[in-house]
Amino acid sequence: MTDGAQTGFTVAIDGPAAAGKGTIGRAVAARFGFAHLDTGLLYRAVGAMGGDPVAAALRIDPTDLERPDLRTAEAGQAASRVAVIPEVRAALVAFQRSFARRPGGAVLDGRDIGTVICPEAEVKLFVTASPEVRAERRFKELRGAGHDTDLATVLADVRSRDARDADRATAPMIAAADALVLDTSRMSVDQAVAAAVAAVQVVRGA
Ligand code: DC
Repeated sequence: MTDGAQTGFTVAIDGPAAAGKGTIGRAVAARFGFAHLDTGLLYRAVGAMGGDPVAAALRIDPTDLERPDLRTAEAGQAASRVAVIPEVRAALVAFQRSFARRPGGAVLDGRDIGTVICPEAEVKLFVTASPEVRAERRFKELRGAGHDTDLATVLADVRSRDARDADRATAPMIAAADALVLDTSRMSVDQAVAAAVAAVQVVRGA
């Protein structure tokens, strides 16, 4: 058993947009007392800051992640576009790595955590679901937050981000060879969280 409080303990959660990474990541972090970082917010903030994306990535500050406009579909598309720029990705590596190895344990969710940011993570999950299921979930989320959109638009957004995130040359979205793939298409939130918690317990103990 590894003691997260003394040595650091990293749970890497990767996967496509709206697969449930954030929900699972927050629940796993709460269950084990780990800190949680939604790394998509870094790319969303860089996209939203405007101007030169490399300069934005170099001067990003944790308070930038609290901007209220980062959850929209537009912010997601802008994030996916700046995320193809190798210099943007490079500028964000150190922050993510030091978060991952903080004492007490950390959960990071994103696209390249288990492959590039933290290949030595103690637990790696690749959380996925069909594009249709993910679009439906994101559609409900956006409507619930008062955004005026329709399911077809959300599905097109999910598909175009999937394609850009998976096909880019630098750090493409891909499951690490040693990741546990969790397809949540037919799982409830509770079932998905239970599967993720069980995967952590195998390595860390209860
Ligand atoms: O997880 P998200 O939907 O908030 O991510 C927004 C975009 O940021 C996503 O389409 C691709 C990019 N991203 C990335 O390239 N690498 C990460 N680790 C996290 C997000």
